Amino acid sequence: MAIERLVEPTMAENDREEEKIEISLRPTTFKEYIGQQHLKNNIKLAIDAVKKRSDGSTLDHVLLYGPPGLGKTTMAGVIAHELGTNLRVTSGPAIERAGDLASILTNLKDGDVLFIDEIHRLRRAVEEVLYSAMEDYKLDIVIGKGPAARSVRLDLPKFTVIGATTRTGSLAGPLRDRFGIIHRLEYYKEPEIEQIITRTSKILNTEIHPEATTLLATRSRLTPRIANRLFKRVRDYADVNGDGIIDQPTAIKALELMEIDHLGLDPADRNMLKLMHENYGDRPVGLTTIAALTGDEATTIEDFYEPYLLQLGLLARTPKGRVVTEKGRKHLQNSKNKV
Ligand SMILES: Nc1ncnc2c1ncn2[C@@H]1O[C@H](COP(=O)(O)OP(=O)(O)OP(=O)(O)O)[C@@H](O)[C@H]1O
Ligand SMILES: [Mg+2]
Repeated sequence: MAIERLVEPTMAENDREEEKIEISLRPTTFKEYIGQQHLKNNIKLAIDAVKKRSDGSTLDHVLLYGPPGLGKTTMAGVIAHELGTNLRVTSGPAIERAGDLASILTNLKDGDVLFIDEIHRLRRAVEEVLYSAMEDYKLDIVIGKGPAARSVRLDLPKFTVIGATTRTGSLAGPLRDRFGIIHRLEYYKEPEIEQIITRTSKILNTEIHPEATTLLATRSRLTPRIANRLFKRVRDYADVNGDGIIDQPTAIKALELMEIDHLGLDPADRNMLKLMHENYGDRPVGLTTIAALTGDEATTIEDFYEPYLLQLGLLARTPKGRVVTEKGRKHLQNSKNKV
């Protein structure tokens, strides 16, 4: 990644401290999991049905998709917790060979939840093993080599796969079809982000004034991970420059220092819009061209910058590429980086 960004919705790799705090803030029950009501209702219903049947049936496989930081991993944990089963966590790129998947699957117990993050990055050979495992809880493996090789079919425990991806578009059709529950996580509403900030302040034992909570919520890109991250930075600021209490003036100063404007855009977002506008005006620009302009990877722009800018209507997608909208141009002119 080109620049380390505070409002980057993904988690910084190898950031131990951030990881620790994320874990401590992660809700474990439906009650604690704020927002995403539609998703919660659906999953709750499915879980209640499983519990009621008590004939050994398990929860349908669940596919969660949507921009980073909205709570997919968190939801997987909540589901396992509410089912009262174990959660095994892995990811598409981590499963290198079909044999790796086989050993994960054979170690599961009935009812366990297997969370596969970045499921769109599974290798083809692994994906094919997963098909039959998900469909009829069987594992076909070949034992031996050459003429002596034979294929055996193993019974697997009845498990539930929860797949997470930021892009469903790149998920193979047959894999997608094996999920009984497919759900898109939406950006949160501002009052929900306020609730998340209030919850975080309690867990981290830091007082925050209501006006400051509202202010932070409007800068959090409607994303819980970013809300928590801004909270921590503002808390640091309040600790160093004040009495540790987050009031509105403190929050404003801290946000100014981070150069986050009133829509939650940071210098990297504004820079991208500015470069597009300066070089192409209101004409569409291809993704690879934008990537060349900013020095980022095309996938970074597509997965991380773009979704929120599209959501705000500052950027639009056309068949010929991306354009900075009228609203985007106005924002560049007016914001002049005011908080
Ligand atoms: N509904 C929620 N209520 C309260 N906090 C939440 C909620 N969803 C997410 N969070 C907070 O945001 C953080 C990030 O969420 P999570 O890791 O689940 O996102 P993700 O969708 O899996 O992101 P990625 O695509 O990067 O893996 C969590 O540690 C948690 O503290
Ligand atoms: Mg995740």
